[in-house]
Amino acid sequence: MRRLRNGKIREMVRETSLSVNDLIYPMFIDENIDSPMTMSSMPGVSRLPVEMASDEAKEAADLGIPAVILFGIPSNKDETGSNAWDENGVVQRAVHEIKNELGKDVYVITDVCLCEYTSHGHCGVVDMEKEQILNDPTLPLLGKTAVSHALAGADMVAPSGMMDGMIKSIRNALDQNNCKDIPIMSYAVKYSSAFYGPFREAADSGYSFGDRSSYQMDPANSDEAIREAELDILEGADVIMVKPALSYLDILHRIKTKFNIPTAAYNVSGEFAMIKAAGRMGWLDEKKIMYEVLLSIKRAGADMILTYFAKDLARMLQ
Ligand code: PBG
Repeated sequence: MRRLRNGKIREMVRETSLSVNDLIYPMFIDENIDSPMTMSSMPGVSRLPVEMASDEAKEAADLGIPAVILFGIPSNKDETGSNAWDENGVVQRAVHEIKNELGKDVYVITDVCLCEYTSHGHCGVVDMEKEQILNDPTLPLLGKTAVSHALAGADMVAPSGMMDGMIKSIRNALDQNNCKDIPIMSYAVKYSSAFYGPFREAADSGYSFGDRSSYQMDPANSDEAIREAELDILEGADVIMVKPALSYLDILHRIKTKFNIPTAAYNVSGEFAMIKAAGRMGWLDEKKIMYEVLLSIKRAGADMILTYFAKDLARMLQ
């Protein structure tokens, strides 16, 4: 086995390689600030005011990163999350700015969820008395939100709320509103994970009661992931996402192998924070670990990776 491990032949037999084309760069746009706001648990990642969205997207595009995904932090939260579908909402304005400035130079994906917009922080409409997250009443709101993003200029929408039937309602809403060409990347397989911790600070999306386990998946299950992905594909998803990535590479591999559909993996905030923290302590070589981790996600089956390391990796590959 060692004959092929040295010199040029080592590179020639290499099966997997990372490319800047694999990357999607997440951005947090905050309506309440007028200069960037750093986040303690996500070194190097900032919330940005709407006016800076296109500069940041341009920086990513100049590094060769093909796509960004936008998360919004609104000025106003209410029980149903109505700012999520406001045509002058934070994401809608940011999309508009970016597309105006950069046009086709960057592919703009929007996260479609209510949790950043609801006062209780859950991803759906809530029965406050019973403390229940209601599935069906949430669906039309997600449809409206997706349409508003598309009309603002988004190239793709990415629903992350884990409501049953959300892909079907969003597909119908898009089709009925002249947005037939907008693809859907479904956060189809999203686990109820403690790896989202830093994101909740980043997106100001902590919740006021309970947790997200009534709609996000049990980390113990993998057959359920196949059923989730299958349903979403039947409902019209164009890309299937697995999230988080690292602890779920087996799931990623099963999904890619079974469905042969474009598959994304989300290298989430906690996975990013762990590497940053260990790097800062001098316990790990941050750059090498970043590379190895992202390579392993690709090898497991990801066609695209959402990662806060996108700009770092793009610089390394240059
Ligand atoms: C919200 C959403 C979450 C993430 C992306 N969209 C958090 C959650 O479900 O609580 C997490 C991303 C990350 O941790 O980097 N629907």
